[in-house]
Amino acid sequence: MTAAPQPVYWLGNDTLRVSAALFAENRRRLCEGLKDKDGVVPQSLVLLQGGEQKQRHCTDTDLLFRQESFFHWAFGITEPDCYGAIDVDSGKSVLFVPKLPESYATWMGEIFPKEHFKEKYAVDEVQYTCDIADVLSNPRPALLLTLRGQNTDSGSICREASFEGISRFQVNNTLLHPVIVECRLLKTDMELEVLRYTNRISSEAHKMIMKSVKPGQKEYEMESLFQHYCYTKGGMRHTSYTCICGTGNNSSILHYGHAGAPNEKTITDGDMCLFDMGGEYYCYSSDITCSFPANGKFTPDQRAIYEAVLKSSRTVMAAIKPGVKWTDMHRMADRVHLEELVKIGILTGSVEDMLKVHMGSVFMPHGLGHLLGIDVHDVGGYPEGVERINEPGLKSLRMGRLVRERMVLTVEPGIYFINHLLDQALDNPAQSCFLNNRVLARFRGFGGVRIEDDIAVTAGGVELLTCVPRSVEEIEAFMADSGKPFGPVVTSDKL
Ligand code: GLY
Ligand code: MN
Ligand code: MN
Repeated sequence: MTAAPQPVYWLGNDTLRVSAALFAENRRRLCEGLKDKDGVVPQSLVLLQGGEQKQRHCTDTDLLFRQESFFHWAFGITEPDCYGAIDVDSGKSVLFVPKLPESYATWMGEIFPKEHFKEKYAVDEVQYTCDIADVLSNPRPALLLTLRGQNTDSGSICREASFEGISRFQVNNTLLHPVIVECRLLKTDMELEVLRYTNRISSEAHKMIMKSVKPGQKEYEMESLFQHYCYTKGGMRHTSYTCICGTGNNSSILHYGHAGAPNEKTITDGDMCLFDMGGEYYCYSSDITCSFPANGKFTPDQRAIYEAVLKSSRTVMAAIKPGVKWTDMHRMADRVHLEELVKIGILTGSVEDMLKVHMGSVFMPHGLGHLLGIDVHDVGGYPEGVERINEPGLKSLRMGRLVRERMVLTVEPGIYFINHLLDQALDNPAQSCFLNNRVLARFRGFGGVRIEDDIAVTAGGVELLTCVPRSVEEIEAFMADSGKPFGPVVTSDKL
């Protein structure tokens, strides 16, 4: 007997087909993990609550819905206000959907029967959320496993499933979180395929922008072009985070692009551009930064800083493999930056001594990179027992654990000239002794360079998912050649 064909998520044209089997496999892995966990008794049932439809402040205007990430990982449901249950022993899945009022048909469209959702998502059973207490009581599970735990990047606690009548159940809210986080940490083949796709489309969008950018344009035009390309060509309605389109000094503002600094500067001849943007498809992210001169030609100083960052990026990538410490990769990037800044003349003295006083964090205050998946800063960076290192720079690293095969990570070293950090360093005798203020003065207002690639860790090293021009020569040739389409670029990297 052949297995029934699985439904797919697909937005037509050349967009990726994602099989519902991806989520069935995630649920299967979760059950396997839970069966091995002390405290999970026979007849345990996982209960996850999906994201809710929210409105703008106190109005009746809906915000564009994006699914809650744990719920998406387990079920791949695009609609809001659902729950999902998984029987740990059998793997049986039950989706709970809201029973919609008749007015929904007037304002929002067809009200689909339960059977529609059963077929659409290939779950074993569909019920209404209003019946959840009765359905779950029949038969009543020995233990209801709900999700409660802290996101180690934001410090926020995820929202635990709750419904009227839950007090009648035996509930445990601590066992599930560490297990589901460990499942999300390592990507399956089907998940890797989606992440390759988000990287391919986002890389093409970045390349299109490199071809389009001209002094005189606004930074937000680049944001708009990126979003348009990702949505038109890739079916990506969301980006994974707010687009960062810093030019000139704005390229040193790490999370530029927010409402208070909304990519509004006019791009100037001579500016460095730092464009950090990633498209999201079916809730899977990408996170790519390209840095290049707005006019397509590096000045000697721009080339020197860019090549310093490229060197750290490629040195680190060549070293990443299962078993290495991510904190060591961060330290490695710092070391390369400091060595290169000595060659440029901004720093003088012993790099070993500079490392002792954390000079690396003056130029790269953020972490080297982070896990990537359904969230751009994906979960699992600090499991119980792995502590954050409380040192400048390293304290901002979103992952403290050993690198493992099937992790997807960003590698995003950068060198920035951030006035207040430079001034602090100059005021600190332990650091100022290494700074050559005369040369440094030339770089005030330069902005910054970040090179951010997404990688999948393989048994022997890494697979580079991002594909954009990276060397100075590739970037200059690519930007000069305005006639050619922005097809695949073969980079010079030998990883
Ligand atoms: N775009 C946010 C980050 O690079 O982590
Ligand atoms: Mn980024
Ligand atoms: Mn990133």
